[in-house]
Amino acid sequence: MESMIEACCKQLKIGSTFYKGYQNIKADTHEQFLLELLKRELENREIVRKNRLLKTANFDVVKTFQGYTWDQIQIPPSISIEDIKAAKFVEQKANLILYGSVGTGKSHLATAIGVEACNRGKRVKFYRTASLVNQLTDAKANGELKRFFRQIEKCDLLICDEWGFVPFEKNGAQLLFQVVSECYERRSVIITTNLEFSKWNAIFYDEKMTSAIIDRLIHHSHLLVFNGPSYRLQHSTINC
Ligand SMILES: Nc1ncnc2c1ncn2[C@@H]1O[C@H](COP(=O)(O)OP(=O)(O)O)[C@@H](O)[C@H]1O
Ligand SMILES: [Mg+2]
Repeated sequence: MESMIEACCKQLKIGSTFYKGYQNIKADTHEQFLLELLKRELENREIVRKNRLLKTANFDVVKTFQGYTWDQIQIPPSISIEDIKAAKFVEQKANLILYGSVGTGKSHLATAIGVEACNRGKRVKFYRTASLVNQLTDAKANGELKRFFRQIEKCDLLICDEWGFVPFEKNGAQLLFQVVSECYERRSVIITTNLEFSKWNAIFYDEKMTSAIIDRLIHHSHLLVFNGPSYRLQHSTINC
């Protein structure tokens, strides 16, 4: 009998999780049983969907808000911690700029927001900026730039981590500018950086392009400043 159920599921393109463990469903009526079975399948699909979103986002490491401390972050009045944690700015297609020195928790926060956005059904892409630029340059060289852009166009939130850590080639900078322009008012961007705006010229070379990028990023954006000492140093396991 079970093999026939399995065959039916296969034909209907329903995963075997649909009926596996049905013996454990407690129900007094047929309707109750059927309802429980369908509810379980919905829950399963939700988990599969979230896992797919997390995988596509391609986070370096998965981080959450659990244990995350906010006291060293200067949060502008335009946004609340609750709204950040609920990734509400993604609905508004607003941007977040996380600025501060290394080890202060920028990547952690960007990732935790991204993970939460995935949990809420949003499509996220996480890149170290240098890697994004490399991928863009490669895509262009291989004639696959359109395809690459289509991937970015599909997402609701683009995270560019370590923005400005390494200067880009001129070509790379132009491609990054294209990405930022494409995202403008269409999807949210989170940038983590240790470089103040006045120094962005150094990574983009071209003054006009730098101001155009800054302009697009800071319009509809919230700037969070990370003032604290390096969390890594403070919580270092090396005893001096
Ligand atoms: N406010 C914080 N609360 C909890 N852990 C933190 C906090 N800030 C940083 N960390 C931890 O310290 C390490 C460095 O943080 P990270 O986000 O990589 O810093 P940054 O990106 O600013 O260089 C990570 O392991 C991170 O989980
Ligand atoms: Mg970082």
